[in-house]
Amino acid sequence: MRDLLLLGIETTCDETAAAVVRRRADGSGTILSNIVRSQTSDHAAYGGVVPEIAARAHVEVIDTIIEQALRSSAVKLVELDGIAAAAGPGLIGGVIVGLTTAKAIALAARKPLIAVNHLEAHALTARLTDAVPFPFLLLLVSGGHTQLVAVTGVGEYVKLGGTIDDAIGEAFDKTAKMLGLPYPGGPAVEAAARAGDALRFALPRPLYGRPTPDFSLSGLKTAVRLEALKIAPLSDQDVADLCASFQAAVVDILADRVRCALRLMREHGLAPHALVLAGGVGANQAVRRALHKVAADGGTRLAVPPPELCTDNGAMIAWAGAERLALGLTDDLATSPRARWPLEDVVGVDWAD
Ligand code: KG4
Ligand code: ZN
Repeated sequence: MRDLLLLGIETTCDETAAAVVRRRADGSGTILSNIVRSQTSDHAAYGGVVPEIAARAHVEVIDTIIEQALRSSAVKLVELDGIAAAAGPGLIGGVIVGLTTAKAIALAARKPLIAVNHLEAHALTARLTDAVPFPFLLLLVSGGHTQLVAVTGVGEYVKLGGTIDDAIGEAFDKTAKMLGLPYPGGPAVEAAARAGDALRFALPRPLYGRPTPDFSLSGLKTAVRLEALKIAPLSDQDVADLCASFQAAVVDILADRVRCALRLMREHGLAPHALVLAGGVGANQAVRRALHKVAADGGTRLAVPPPELCTDNGAMIAWAGAERLALGLTDDLATSPRARWPLEDVVGVDWAD
């Protein structure tokens, strides 16, 4: 096995991103370039991502972003071993832009195409940044996803639990909107919470203590709204206290659900080498602190990619593409973009062959 050089393209949500990554024969990796153009300002006025605006914005900048990624990596197109793009899940207009661009490059440059599942890319990032061996427990918490997944190999994902309503990032965003804080809500809520009293409001912790590690956030969100209505108009201190109480509830819920998932993995004979935290909510310091302790108490360690690799980026797509290509997994140019694509449906190597 020789070194592999991959271009990765990400367009599933509101980041247009491209990167070049090297995977060495020993399984270690290096990011040679990682260019991200966030559309946050295009969507801020609407308080959330508008799919049509997102797709159009991807089309406008994708060529330039890819060109920049190649130039700053000093890798020429002919030197690449494969072209990877996120083929879903995500906003379909954006996915089409990234995947079609990757197909065109793959066809023109005669390179293999690797159609990467966006969630798989989040899952495998800790192997690039922290060389985490299989198996590990993945907690993916972003604006669109909240999942606990046992990762036993490339393409081997067992979903242990997920959310039955809102994603956690979404709950942060909606709470922020409700309290008049800017979009995206996560960082704003975290900042406001620093000056707040987490004990002032007794908020619910839905599904706490349940034997399966599922999540439910909508009741918590409603509880915040009701508390806010009771004391309206809100002072800055009220907002800070509501944010602190909300964040404390989220942290308690996450800690409990992760403990549950770690227990489940061990019951199935899997000793996790790490608890891997991925997705935008992974940037939250209170979440990190709590999970660091949960991991240590559970006999493992917390592995969190740096913030710029927790949120959507091209390096994670290139890396997942490299991990797949190293196993001989490539995709047909007829591969379809997918709005929905659960991790359990990702195909890996059929070891029975
Ligand atoms: O992974 P990501 O960049 O995009 C996807 O949703 O795929 O995650 C964005 C989400 C948003 O909901 C944002 O509010 C949340 O991550 N987020 C945070 C923090 N930073 C970003 N949530 C809580 N605390 C933060 N510091
Ligand atoms: Zn993501």
